[in-house]
Amino acid sequence: MNQQITADQLNDAGHLMIGGCDSIELAHEYGTPLVVYDVSQIRQQIRSFRRVFDANHVDYAVSYASKAFAAIAMYQVAAAEGAHVDVVSAGELYTAIKADFPIERVSFHGNNKSREELEMAIDHHVGTIMIDNFHEIELLATVLEERNESVDVMLRITPGISAHTNKYIQTGQVDSKFGFDLQSGQADEALQKVLANPRMKMRGLHAHIGSQIFELAGFEGVAKKLVEVAAHWRDEFGYEAQVINVGGGFGIRYVAADHPLKPEEFVDAIIKAIKKETAEKGLSMPAIWIEPGRSIVGPAGYNLYTVGSRKDVPGLKPYVTVDGGMGDNIRPALYQAEYETVLASNPQAPIKEHVRLAGKYCESGDILAQDQGLPETQPGDVLAMLDTGAYGYSMASNYNRNPRPAVVFAEDGKAQLVIERESLADLVHLDRKYQQ
Ligand code: LLP
Repeated sequence: MNQQITADQLNDAGHLMIGGCDSIELAHEYGTPLVVYDVSQIRQQIRSFRRVFDANHVDYAVSYASKAFAAIAMYQVAAAEGAHVDVVSAGELYTAIKADFPIERVSFHGNNKSREELEMAIDHHVGTIMIDNFHEIELLATVLEERNESVDVMLRITPGISAHTNKYIQTGQVDSKFGFDLQSGQADEALQKVLANPRMKMRGLHAHIGSQIFELAGFEGVAKKLVEVAAHWRDEFGYEAQVINVGGGFGIRYVAADHPLKPEEFVDAIIKAIKKETAEKGLSMPAIWIEPGRSIVGPAGYNLYTVGSRKDVPGLKPYVTVDGGMGDNIRPALYQAEYETVLASNPQAPIKEHVRLAGKYCESGDILAQDQGLPETQPGDVLAMLDTGAYGYSMASNYNRNPRPAVVFAEDGKAQLVIERESLADLVHLDRKYQQ
């Protein structure tokens, strides 16, 4: 029996409901593989972060890290919920602009923003540029000078804190490609350069310590570290930071072994740590910004697949193959990420066997789950993989020239297609015949 699915997620037919819609009907109407988001869950998640800040009377921004799932519809929902967003490419920025996302609430991240990306950001008047390195300071200075513009900036620093998480997704340790190093004095040097440029309005400092983090310690540590840096900057350079941005990384439950804290608990600890440290250092309380990605969209997403072929070898765990795989969710192959999957027509059906849930891609590593308990399944059955909303569609590929799936938003019993399924024609859309 799956612990994540509660009785209120089942309809009279016993089918899994997503956003009040019958998952089997969604699969039939839109086809599979299909990504479905329960939109109210996205809204609730943003609200629960915001609520803690409001209750503590702290100036803040909940900046959705849109790399987790970027689509026009998603930027619309984030806008409606009063979130900020961060973007990391011209493509994400373009999508946010197409969604009419309030541009002053957009932050632009990235460790190698191109000149064109910075030009686009400045021409569209994005809220904040998160400066990552010295090259960017020069490039941005040139772009601002040419356009006679100015912009709010923050400096990303490498805080030297490594979060306890999968090593592939650590970014906060000293040996990281992101941000200005503290120990060697690079962050101080960057600050001086930015303060010397009247076109760059220095707002504060940023750090991101990793992803899928369960412990408070890392966040408390980074909050403390950033306040220490802020105090040092005040003492040394007379500059007082107005914003402290502790990044994202709040962990979610994928499988029973995951025990994440509630968003409230993370935010509460961060606020407390920053309050305590600023009071000790005699700094005025800054605005606190956070950048959750996974925790906002992960639990709200479901991947629906249809069962196809099967391979049974005596003595080996069977392979049950679905019509998607690493093209729509690379995370199991890339990070050994685990998910839970249920039979959509009867999520609470007793488990009959443990199988390898295989994808259809031509690669042995294309296994969506190594050990999934399932009832008996037949070709044509619809499976729902849970908690797939973060970094699934956004990392999708056309490997083997498979089209990327459609994405549906479901809310209050109504479903809407928000990203169409790629067609075969789409797949050759950019191809040009070679004249040989
Ligand atoms: N802020 C910054 C500066 C980041 O680099 C990231 C994620 C976030 C916020 C959001 O982190 P979240 O709250 O989503 O953990 N593809 C990997 C995750 C890469 C995360 C990269 N940075 C995965 O599928 O697990």
